[in-house]
Amino acid sequence: MSISPFVEEKRTAKTVDDIYQEMKEKLHDVVPDFELRYKAELVQKILELKEARNAVILGHNYMEPALFHTIPDFKGDSLELARRAATTEKDIIVFCGVKFMAETAKILNPDKTVLLPSDKAGCSLAESITAQDVRRLKMRFPGVPVVTYINTYAAVKAESDICCTSSNAVKVVESFQTETVIFLPDEFLARNVARETGKHIIFPVVRNGRWDWPLEDTELDYQMIGWRGRCEVHEKFSMEDVENARRQFPDVVVLAHPECPPEVVEAADFSGSTTAMVRYVEHSSARRFLLLTECSMGDNIIAANPDKEMVRLCSVRCPHMNQITLEDTLKALQLNRYVIDVPESIRIRALRAVQRMLEIG
Ligand code: 13P
Ligand code: SF4
Repeated sequence: MSISPFVEEKRTAKTVDDIYQEMKEKLHDVVPDFELRYKAELVQKILELKEARNAVILGHNYMEPALFHTIPDFKGDSLELARRAATTEKDIIVFCGVKFMAETAKILNPDKTVLLPSDKAGCSLAESITAQDVRRLKMRFPGVPVVTYINTYAAVKAESDICCTSSNAVKVVESFQTETVIFLPDEFLARNVARETGKHIIFPVVRNGRWDWPLEDTELDYQMIGWRGRCEVHEKFSMEDVENARRQFPDVVVLAHPECPPEVVEAADFSGSTTAMVRYVEHSSARRFLLLTECSMGDNIIAANPDKEMVRLCSVRCPHMNQITLEDTLKALQLNRYVIDVPESIRIRALRAVQRMLEIG
């Protein structure tokens, strides 16, 4: 690909050394120096190509610090990035996140080319449910509205009435006039929403190798119907983690993502979306925090708030978010890969569910 004169101008405006110095200033506590030098070169090439190809880069809060603090035009949680994807006028959206996020961008802005830098960036929640599962649920509970977490693939969203994210799940559930809602697929997010909204929740049980519901012969007072999906990262955080941290650091403020087990969320001082947790740290006068979510986010917070101390449990990592590297983001722009497509018949139906969520907030 030839680089336009405009890009040449940009190249002379920001040298690798400029970028290295900026990165060093921000990231010296969280990225080793030898890595910074090498990554500064990648960053410069990505920034050039981003301009040349008229692309926008969206970066989820879980991206590794050298990527997160350099190349994205917009950073945030899944709701914020969906909004950015919907309104961009650039030709290409490079999504530094996972596949369900890139698909949501394509659903919202189908005329753009959406690129995901790795074809291995999935999500255990998105894998936990199929469109066929949702159709069976709708047959079992006719007329009950389906609320689907954004961490699902397009075909599942297409079977749903409305989507939600970790930042608006309670609001979305409360937006229904009906008493009962189906809430898919995250068991723990559902339990946390049920607790907050005061609803009684039921889950499928397995009988003779097939899933069924525990209310066949009874008139149970249920108001939420859940599913057994789990985030493979957040399900690993435990009460022991919270207790150990509080014992060792009595002043620690505990933050937990709502995909964590309910007892962990209840024991935490604050629970919210990834961006809500970032803002909480920024605005808090406390100094030390335990972050029960993907470990990279702690590095990103430290880089932006060097006066804060983040206690992290880095043995628990998201293998999907970690697929996205600067190397692969450069390749995505060079080779136009991996292109995210959603069949139009599915996209139109999924769009309804996503748009309803965006209207609610
Ligand atoms: P947020 O919407 O809070 O960024 O969460 C996305 C996610 O995948 C958390 O594991
Ligand atoms: Fe999916 Fe969990 Fe990774 Fe988020 S942290 S992308 S929910 S596996």
